[in-house]
Amino acid sequence: MPKGPWLSWLERLDGIEEVVGSSPTGSTMAKRIFLTGLRPTATALHLGNYLGAIRDVLAIQEKGAPFFLFVADLHGLTTEDPQKVAANREKILLTYLAAGVDPQKTIIYYQSALAEETLLLEIFLSRFFSVAQALRVPTLKEKVRQPRQASLFLLRYPALMAADILIQRATHIPVGKDQEAHLEVSQLLARQFNRHFGYLFPIPRPYQTQGVKIIALDGQGKMSKSRPQGAIFLNDHPEEAKQKIRRAVTETLAKPPKEMSPAVASLFLLGESFANRQEKEQLANMRQEYFRGTLKFVHLKEVVGQAVGRFLVDFQRRYQSWQQKPKLLATILEEGNRRAKRHAQETWQLVAAKTGFTLPRS
Ligand code: TYM
Repeated sequence: MPKGPWLSWLERLDGIEEVVGSSPTGSTMAKRIFLTGLRPTATALHLGNYLGAIRDVLAIQEKGAPFFLFVADLHGLTTEDPQKVAANREKILLTYLAAGVDPQKTIIYYQSALAEETLLLEIFLSRFFSVAQALRVPTLKEKVRQPRQASLFLLRYPALMAADILIQRATHIPVGKDQEAHLEVSQLLARQFNRHFGYLFPIPRPYQTQGVKIIALDGQGKMSKSRPQGAIFLNDHPEEAKQKIRRAVTETLAKPPKEMSPAVASLFLLGESFANRQEKEQLANMRQEYFRGTLKFVHLKEVVGQAVGRFLVDFQRRYQSWQQKPKLLATILEEGNRRAKRHAQETWQLVAAKTGFTLPRS
C-alpha cells in the first residue's frame, strides 16, 4: 500500500476541540464529528470488524462527540445480491446494539436512507476522481484483475465512501488499517472540492486507537468475511470458535525469535482484547516465554479461546435479547435514519449553494 500523508495521523488523538481542516484564511475550527460504516455482506460481522471499528465506536460514544454509525448497504451491493444485503442489514443493526452501541448517543442508520443526498454528492466528487486514479487504488487494483468482479460500481467504491463521509461533514473515521487507502481518496476529494468551490469540508482523518489488522486464523491475509474458515464470526458457537483458534496457524519458534510473526501477534491481540485480569497476566507471561523461545502455542490458544469464547457467550445473549424487541429496533432505526438524513440534507443545501447547482422543485 502506498504510504500517504495519513500516516502521521495514526497517533492517538486526544482533546475534543482541535483544528481538523481550515478555511483558506485558517479561521475555521471544525467540530469533531465521528463516522463509520460496515458492509452487510455476511449474516454476521467477525472479530476483525469488531476490533477494527466497533470497539472504537464504543469508546468514542462515551466522550459525547457526535457519532454517525451506518450499515453500508449500498456498498454491500458491489459484491452481493440485493436480497441478501437487505436481509443482512438488520442483523448488522442488531450487532451494533448487542455490541453496546447506545442509540441515545450514536446515530445509527442505513446508508440507503440518505441515498439521494449521498449519490448526488458522489457525482460532484467523482468529477475530481479520474478513472486512472480509481484503477490505482490498491484494493481495486487487485479486484479489477478478476474481470467478473470488476463492475463499474466497484470503481465508484472510493468516491461513494468519500460521499458517505463528507455528506455528514465528518472529521474522524474509525476504521481498520485496510481502509486507509480509501480514506486517502476521501481526503483528496474533500480538498479538491474545497479548492474548486470554496471551503466546505473538513479533511476527514482515520481514527485508530490501535490501528489494528487482525490476521486470518488460517494465515491467509486479513480476517475477512469472504474466507469463513479463517474468521471468527460473532455468531459462531463459542466451541466452534475455540476449535478455529486451536487450528490457527502459528510458527516454528526459532530460539530465541527476533520478531513476532503477524499471525502470532494477532492471536495475542485477540486474547488481550477479551481477557479478564487473570488471563491478561497469563498472556503477559506467555509473551515473555515467546521471546525466550519456550512458549507452547497450545497454551496460548487455550487462553485465547477461553477469553474469546466468553466474549461470544455474552455478545450472543445480548443479541438474542435485542431480537426480542422488534418494535424498539424499528423505532431506533427510524429515528437514526431521520436524524442522519436531516443532517445530510443540510450538507446538500450547502453543496448546492457552493456549486450553484440546485435541484428543480418537484
Ligand atoms: P468492511 O465492511 O469491509 O469492514 C468494516 C470495518 O471492519 C474493519 N476490518 C478490519 N479491521 C481489522 N482487521 C481486519 N481483519 C478487518 N477486516 C475488516 C474495516 O477496516 C472497517 O473499518 N468501505 C468500508 C465501509 C464503508 C465506510 C464508509 C467506512 C463505506 N463507507 C465510510 C467508513 C466510512 C468497508 O468495506 O468496510
